Amino acid sequence: SDIHSWLAVMPKAELHLHIDGSLQASRLLQLAAKNGVAIPYDSVESVQAAYEFEDLQSFLDLYYLGASVLRDEDDFYWLMRDYLDKCREQKIVHTEIMVEPQTYLPYGVGIHTVMAGFKRAIAEAKAEWGQSALMMLSLLRHLSEDEALAMLEMAEPFRDDFVAIGLASSEMGHPPSKFKTLYETARSRGYKLVAHAGEEGPPEYIWEAIQLLGVDRIDHGVRCVEDPALVAHLVHKQIPLTVCPLSNVRLCVFDRMQDHNLLNMLEQGLCVTVNSDDPTYFGGFMNENFSALADALALSREQAKQLAANSFRASFLPDDIKAQYL
Ligand code: ADE
Ligand code: ZN
Repeated sequence: SDIHSWLAVMPKAELHLHIDGSLQASRLLQLAAKNGVAIPYDSVESVQAAYEFEDLQSFLDLYYLGASVLRDEDDFYWLMRDYLDKCREQKIVHTEIMVEPQTYLPYGVGIHTVMAGFKRAIAEAKAEWGQSALMMLSLLRHLSEDEALAMLEMAEPFRDDFVAIGLASSEMGHPPSKFKTLYETARSRGYKLVAHAGEEGPPEYIWEAIQLLGVDRIDHGVRCVEDPALVAHLVHKQIPLTVCPLSNVRLCVFDRMQDHNLLNMLEQGLCVTVNSDDPTYFGGFMNENFSALADALALSREQAKQLAANSFRASFLPDDIKAQYL
């Protein structure tokens, strides 16, 4: 069969997905109207016309505007429900979802509202469809470490709902070293640890995430190739990289998909995975990311199988469950 339809039914896990990055334009407009939030868009087409970015920050400005329309438990339920419906369509049999409760605090929306909606959608997907989903508490690096620590405390009632903590948002000028105490605290509480590093930032930020924060996985990490010693370390330790091809092209990390280094990294023995990051904003969920690799880089079925196997191996599922997918 044709590679695209084959990729579409290949069982896969997603390990790098910001739930706010899955907000559909139609849902954004609906919730803005319902909640009386003024936004500078009046149609799905006008929202989608804004999906034109020159770097990470230009995207984040729109991403946080989108997140500002969410207010009550049902809003969070539908955000999560829409994404989990997509997972079912795309054979994403396991997903690890980044939740960023700090984003909603300025609008008077607390973590209890957020989590009530998200947990209801996930519980329903598990019960009705046997879907597998874990949540990660992602902290915003443009804010202070004290604010991240305060959120870690607010999340204590939901300790069992978060498998890991992560670090996202504006990378440049906010190195991993800024969050050493946060990661020490989270580690002592048994959280798995991930962090965005080496998306726009230099290889030094990846070293810091590994050596100062002790992360289990690196989100993005594509700039590791600039430092051969770092590549050797990542290969030796098999530290997974959650790479997001469409995201990298849309945010101009690479000019074109043909220039993306994902398959080179895979062939160098790095534990690379494919992910969508912010699928509605970047023009594709998991299958569109795999298809783009097939079109631009002639991804083979063997490479696709390796990438899918890596996604389960690098997941935070318990070993016995993981084994069922490998
Ligand atoms: N938040 C949502 N998407 C992100 C990305 N690609 N990098 C950093 N922070 C993000
Ligand atoms: Zn991301």
